[in-house]
Amino acid sequence: MEIIILTNEEAVAKRSADLVEAQIRTFPDTILGLATGSSPLGLYKELVVRHQKHSLSFDQVRTFNLDEYVGIPADHSQSYRTFMNENLFDDLNIDKANTHVPDGTMENPMDAGPVFEKKIAEAGGIDLQVLGIGTDGHIGFNEPTSSIRSRTRLKTLTKQTVEDNSRFFEPGEFQPKLAITMGIGTILETRRILLIATGENKAEAVHDMIEGPIAAICPASALQMHERVTVILDEAAAKNLKYQDYYRHVSEIQDELVKKHRPSDWIAR
Ligand code: F6R
Repeated sequence: MEIIILTNEEAVAKRSADLVEAQIRTFPDTILGLATGSSPLGLYKELVVRHQKHSLSFDQVRTFNLDEYVGIPADHSQSYRTFMNENLFDDLNIDKANTHVPDGTMENPMDAGPVFEKKIAEAGGIDLQVLGIGTDGHIGFNEPTSSIRSRTRLKTLTKQTVEDNSRFFEPGEFQPKLAITMGIGTILETRRILLIATGENKAEAVHDMIEGPIAAICPASALQMHERVTVILDEAAAKNLKYQDYYRHVSEIQDELVKKHRPSDWIAR
């Protein structure tokens, strides 16, 4: 794993956007894997700015989102489709037909996973996957003890996740307890991964992911088995890392190389 520790959230957003921008400028028909939640919001804002002010074009880009709730319509205010439209797609020149979110409205929700996997395969696989991490180490909706080889499938949310998200739903309103999520095995097949984590509440999960053993109890630790993962952290999220000095040292040396050779060595495909 490549670990980049930056001073604050703004720097994290900018560096993440540099990497995504380099990928899209090199391969305008890039296939992106995307996440919802607060972690990628700064990145998404930056991408919108670069599209509007610096002609970064998304007209050939295709996207696949990690997850979606089951049982609410796509146009519900809390669906992940709505989140993506409002926080990214509506402000880009992307064709919405090229943006894919798992279908949480199928009559048999167990069919949604295989359908989504087929779409990813038909597109030729994901070039660059953006991830956040939960405080318990989850990625997508792969909660602790999820199988490391799991595929896109129906998952029952933990009581904690349901409780955490209850603030977004009106009292008495139906709140999903199920979701469709890419599996850990699906995520491990993407060609390049960019994981973003900020804030002290992520410090323990970030430590377990990078320096702990590979274990189903911390789903993100499975990323140690992926060849090309870049983790971008702010100082608060990095605070429990034992080898912080080493990661900073590597970054300094890498930065020299970057000036000479990048972005070509970063690009996935
Ligand atoms: C969302 C997703 C989740 C989040 C994670 C962190 O699509 O895949 O795994 O990345 O729950 O959420 P935030 O970023 O809100 O802290």
